Formats: sequence, structure tokens, C-alpha cells
Amino acid sequence: MQILVTGGAGYIGSHTCVALLEAGHTVIVADNLCNSKAETIDKIKQIVNQGNEANMDNKITFYKIDVTDEVAVEKVFSNHKLDGVIHFAGLKAVGESVEKPLAYYYNNLVSTIVLSKMCLKYGVNKFVFSSSATVYGDNTVPFVETMQLLPTTNPYGETKVMSERILTDAIKANPDFSVSLLRYFNPVGAHESGLIGEAPNGIPNNLMPYVTQVAKGKLEKLRVFGNDYPTVDGTGVRDYIHVMDLADGHVVALDNLSNGVHIYNLGTGQGTSVLQLVKAFEEANGIEIPYEIVDRRPGDIASCYADASKAERKLKWIAKRDIVEMCLDSWRFEQQNK
Ligand code: NAD
Ligand code: UD1
Repeated sequence: MQILVTGGAGYIGSHTCVALLEAGHTVIVADNLCNSKAETIDKIKQIVNQGNEANMDNKITFYKIDVTDEVAVEKVFSNHKLDGVIHFAGLKAVGESVEKPLAYYYNNLVSTIVLSKMCLKYGVNKFVFSSSATVYGDNTVPFVETMQLLPTTNPYGETKVMSERILTDAIKANPDFSVSLLRYFNPVGAHESGLIGEAPNGIPNNLMPYVTQVAKGKLEKLRVFGNDYPTVDGTGVRDYIHVMDLADGHVVALDNLSNGVHIYNLGTGQGTSVLQLVKAFEEANGIEIPYEIVDRRPGDIASCYADASKAERKLKWIAKRDIVEMCLDSWRFEQQNK
């Protein structure tokens, strides 16, 4: 299939491009590079073709465009006979979304509307959307797809709830359209080559990139946000999932799309506390991570992990890589990434 991957130069999008190309699909990337670099496209080619980039030119095409720009997006749809869209492009920093709510609503909602509108116009009826476990709010773990969603605590989370609703309503009005809403838990890790991974700008907000920067000596010590949660050791519990497992989840979601809206949790189903993750990282890589316990971070919940059984039942997909592999691959990328 020929697939438009919006945000394909970003963290999850780039790994998914690798998985799509390895599965034999052709990829068109649309990214405005607001949180990524064009050289990632060359690295994707390098990984897939093991050094012989020239052969990849007809397999992956890159457009530096903003996917809220309807005219630019329409050019891509008219230039290529697309079979499906995977929509990763979006702004994702929770704190920034509180400071710049309009930018978040505009970018994340207009992009979803423009892309679904073009899909309907050009008869492209497969759409896979990057949603997030954040849509569950502070529900009881494990989170199941059938749960009623609880309020989110920030504009970023709202854009995911609203995008899910926009796409669900578009399906009701257009029964030939098919959408997969993929609710990711906590993506970590990197491609095993160490060529692509997550390189956040500035001081990382998320746990794993913070840990790898402490390991590298860029940051002095980890601040653990609270040790008085009702969890195994008092620290927050999350469902960390290797980004390559997540990437594979997109390929199977696309391959199995049928008419209607389909919601899947993409997680491992395993909860890991902050201190358990720190210990796993130390043991896997033989590096000590100094930390201190500080106050809870506003907006954090105690526990968040998936009931991942629906994806296993319906898509025959499970996350294969364990926490050790996540720690090894995250650290390899940090070391190689300048
Ligand atoms: P990322 O920032 O690495 O990738 C997003 C990409 O989209 C970037 O390359 C950016 O340049 C591009 N982009 C943003 N707005 C654009 C626009 N208007 N037009 C064109 N390109 C645009 O983020 P990621 O971690 O790869 O996340 C991908 C998607 O998954 C996002 O929608 C995010 O909200 C969602 N998600 C991420 C996580 C996570 O922890 N990383 C968890 C749940 C959901
Ligand atoms: C964050 C986002 C969430 C998003 C998810 C995946 C917030 C409030 N939530 O979730 O919307 O979907 O990332 O990208 O930002 N921790 C520390 N010290 C740190 C960093 C984190 O102790 O320096 C703890 C947190 O308190 C949490 C756990 O580590 O218990 C994981 O945090 P993080 O990686 O930021 O992810 P989430 O909070 O799950």
C-alpha cells in the first residue's frame, strides 16, 4: 500500500516508517519539521536499505509541509494514489499546551479535519490516528477501551479526545471510511541501530529521556515526582512500551482496518514504577542514576497501564520487547545522538 505518514520525521512516525517500509509498503512523509529534522528521512533510508540509500528513492518521498495547510495537503493527495493515512503530526508537550492552548487546538484539530476531509474527497478510506492513554483521565487501572473517558487535565489531552470524536462522527456520516484510534501508553526506546530515537529539545519532561541524560552526565540527577502514591513503592506507575513494538502495532492496525471506528490500546499491560524503571536502567546498562524524591508533579496520576487484550485478540499484536531492551536501546540512542 502507499501510505501518507504525517509527522513521519518525528519520534514514533520515523520508527513506523521503518516498519512500514520493511513490510513492503511505500511511504509519503508530510512533516513541517517543527519538532524534527530532515536528516531523519535519510536515516530511515539507511536503516531499511542497510547503507544503499539510492534504491530507496521511490519507496519514501518527503514533503516539508504543514498539514493544517489544506492547499499543500491537497497537492500530496493529487500527486499520489494513496491507500491510507497514518496521522502522527501534532504538538505533544503537556505543559506548553497549558501556556499556548490555541496553538495546540489549532494545530492538532485543524490537521485532523484537513486530512480526513482530503481522505473523503480522494476516496482514501483507511485512517490511523495517534491517540493517547491520556484520554482515559484518572480511571481505574487497567484502562480498557470500553471505559467511559474521564476529564483530561490539559489542552493537549483535550485535543486527543476531540480528534477521536471528530473522526468518529466522520465515520458515522461516511460508512465506507475506516479509522483506527490507537491509544498509546508510554513510548520509550529507539531503533536498535541507534540511528533514530527521541531527542527532545531542552530539558526533557518525560522520564526515560531524563534518565538517559542523567546517565550521560548532561543532567545532574533525576527528580522523582512523589513517593506517596498508592503504588508498589509510592512512585508513579506507567506502561512503558518499546517504540518499535508501537510501530509494528501501526502496521497491523492498517492491515486489519475494516469499515467503522476501531479503538485499540497499544501498551504492554505491565505497570512499572519510576524507581523500578531506574533500577532496570541501572542493571541493564551498568550505570548508576542518582535521584532525589521531590513533590508530586501537578496533573500526574498514580497509575496508568493498559488492558492490551483487545489488540491481541483482534490484531494478533502484542508488545514483544521488555523493559531491559527499552533501557538498552534508549541508552544506545542517547550515546550516539549528538
Ligand atoms: P514528535 O514531536 O516526535 O513527532 C511529531 C511530528 O509531527 C514532528 O516531526 C513534527 O515536526 C510534526 N508536526 C507537528 N505539527 C505538524 C504540522 N502541523 N504539520 C506537519 N508536521 C507537523 O512526537 P511523537 O512522540 O512522535 O508523537 C507522534 C504522535 O503521537 C503525536 O500526535 C503525539 O501526540 C502522539 N502521542 C505521543 C506520545 C508520546 O509519548 N510520544 C504518547 C501518546 C500519543
Ligand atoms: C506524560 C504526559 C502525558 C503523555 C505522556 C506520554 C504529563 C503530565 N503527562 O505522561 O499526557 O501522554 O507523557 O508522552 O506530562 N517522572 C519523574 N521525574 C521526571 C519525569 C517523570 O518522576 O523527571 C515520573 C512521572 O511523575 C510519572 C512517570 O515518571 O510518574 C512518567 O512520566 P512521563 O514520562 O512524563 O509520562 P506521563 O506522566 O505518563
